[in-house]
Amino acid sequence: MSSGKRHRLRARLGIVAPLAGFALVLAPLGAARADSGAPYLDPDRPVRARVADLLGRMTLAEKIGQMTQGERAPLTTDTGAVTELGLGSVLSGGGSVPTPNTPQAWADMVDGFQKEALATRLKIPMIYGVDSVHGNGNLLGATIFPHNIGLGASRDPALVRQAAQVTAAETRATGVPWVFAPCLCVTRDSRWGRGYESFGETPELVTAMTTAIDGFQGTRTADLKQADRVLATAKHFAGDGDTVYGTGSGEYPIDQGVTRTSRARFAQIDLAPFVSAVKQRDVGSVMPSYSSVDWTDDGLGNPVKMHAHQELLTGWLKQKTGFDGFVISDYNAIDQLPGTFAEQVTASVNAGVDMFMEPSRYREFVTTLTAEVEAGRVKRSRIDDAVSRILTKKFELGLFENPYADRSGIADIGSAQHRAVARRAVAQSQVLLKNSGNLLPLKKNAKVYVAGRNADDIGNQAGGWTLTWQGFSGNENQQPGTTVLEGIREVAPKAEVTYSEDGTAPAAGSDVAVVVVGETPYAEGYGDVGGPEWPWDPADGGVPREEKSLALQPGDQATVDRVCAAVGKCVVLVVSGRPQVVSTSSGVDALVASWLPGTEGAGVADVLFGKRAFTGKLPVTWPATAAQEPINVGDKDYRPAYPYGYGLTTRTS
Ligand code: GLC
Repeated sequence: MSSGKRHRLRARLGIVAPLAGFALVLAPLGAARADSGAPYLDPDRPVRARVADLLGRMTLAEKIGQMTQGERAPLTTDTGAVTELGLGSVLSGGGSVPTPNTPQAWADMVDGFQKEALATRLKIPMIYGVDSVHGNGNLLGATIFPHNIGLGASRDPALVRQAAQVTAAETRATGVPWVFAPCLCVTRDSRWGRGYESFGETPELVTAMTTAIDGFQGTRTADLKQADRVLATAKHFAGDGDTVYGTGSGEYPIDQGVTRTSRARFAQIDLAPFVSAVKQRDVGSVMPSYSSVDWTDDGLGNPVKMHAHQELLTGWLKQKTGFDGFVISDYNAIDQLPGTFAEQVTASVNAGVDMFMEPSRYREFVTTLTAEVEAGRVKRSRIDDAVSRILTKKFELGLFENPYADRSGIADIGSAQHRAVARRAVAQSQVLLKNSGNLLPLKKNAKVYVAGRNADDIGNQAGGWTLTWQGFSGNENQQPGTTVLEGIREVAPKAEVTYSEDGTAPAAGSDVAVVVVGETPYAEGYGDVGGPEWPWDPADGGVPREEKSLALQPGDQATVDRVCAAVGKCVVLVVSGRPQVVSTSSGVDALVASWLPGTEGAGVADVLFGKRAFTGKLPVTWPATAAQEPINVGDKDYRPAYPYGYGLTTRTS
């Protein structure tokens, strides 16, 4: 900064300082409207000073409003609630989208809520949040990346950073400055429905991929103001992937369950990625898990929900590890705490949660927390701490100076350049488990017989959190993209391709078969093996849901058996969110874990035909039988079908 500039800055501060003091004296006495000269509105002042000035002007009602987040759908009909309550935030839940689902309509929607927020006395901007967990999945036309389990298979932290940067750009361009990502869960049991949201089963691998936070936020605080950066959320704190099967919440067998562990092992496995997220990446927000922790140190039998875990949220995360962002609750998560709503609110605020994701109960939350503060069960100092954290991030994001969408990045959404990054991520995520006779890579002029229900299904290859919360099968009303079959045709135009989804078409004369099988989409507990089936609605398109399993669905196995028996050389691709036990007795020569590639299915063809080499390594253990789960590297008597870190390589051709 030149001396002249520094001099001017000091002069500005010099003039402002006495005024600021004067304003602070006035504020508690009455609800004076924010004057334009108020220090908190001066972008040249340090954020800390702006926060202190603004906090000093706020009433209790305004502070509690900042701690409250509502969902766009109820707020769309409850018009004016953002202004009336001074809500600090609005979210889109999975699949909660404007009509039409276009970048412009998103920006108009977000700006609409922002206009309401700026109509409040102190003009505090709201912050909008979405689940951009593998690209901006809610937005039609966005670049959809492989889910994290595929990115974990790439073992490429720089690629993960780049994927997050593209996602940040395609999110902020729609006016949304905050994503509920990345998930830093360490998935320890592949029967968990959220395993695909994890980078893998070891804390080392998940920690390595906290580069995603740099991709979202940039590496300097000043980057957060840019039109292609967003605030990230490290979630779900902590142990969500380490719960015991059978302890799940409600009808979920394992999701939102209980992590039974010692403090030392919890720190080694479940907390480790959050150390990096906070200390190395300066993550802006943290979301607690629905799950509980039951310390073996203290003798089991006292599971405490993470949303009320003061020892971990305040003690470990904020005080010991130095987290200076804000803690956002999960969706209605405090519902699962013991007691009345008032007791749930008080327990969670006092434990260290700063903002509450109350999609439709935001009014009740505001009145309840107000009453709890007035009754002395929640200290005003706790409220001030929570609000200071929230305001700090809003100032750092530049929302006070630029509260409305910067739409300059809309043209890049789904661009060829962005899709090229995703296509490379798909190729690097493919894990080659078997390659008898070096069948792969295939010849580009081969006679290829393609079969399997996941060969030509963009919905199945994208998985959950894509246009809807649960995702859905089929190619109708889906994200635009390339299926695996389309990728094969594009990458090997000289190949003679026959496609038969169920593998019943004649296969005579084919050189090789490629059978693409796996799972249909799911999210959260609906993806638990043995979990409830999400009620299939034909309007969702695709096919009725199916019983989740660690073994290939019977129909898929039948297709594999039929085709691989008929065609001399046979490749099986498993498009799924988790390992699948595949019987290869019918003559499977090559086996590939394709995970959930997203919209750029051609990335699979790139490695199949040698445009790129296979380099992926298993991010999770591939069990020999379902009965082996949970099975993780390091276990005693560890005898999986394919171990963590396994993956054959090929050369380009
Ligand atoms: C969900 C998920 C969480 C997500 C939130 C908002 O229940 O647990 O990962 O960010 O709700 O959609």
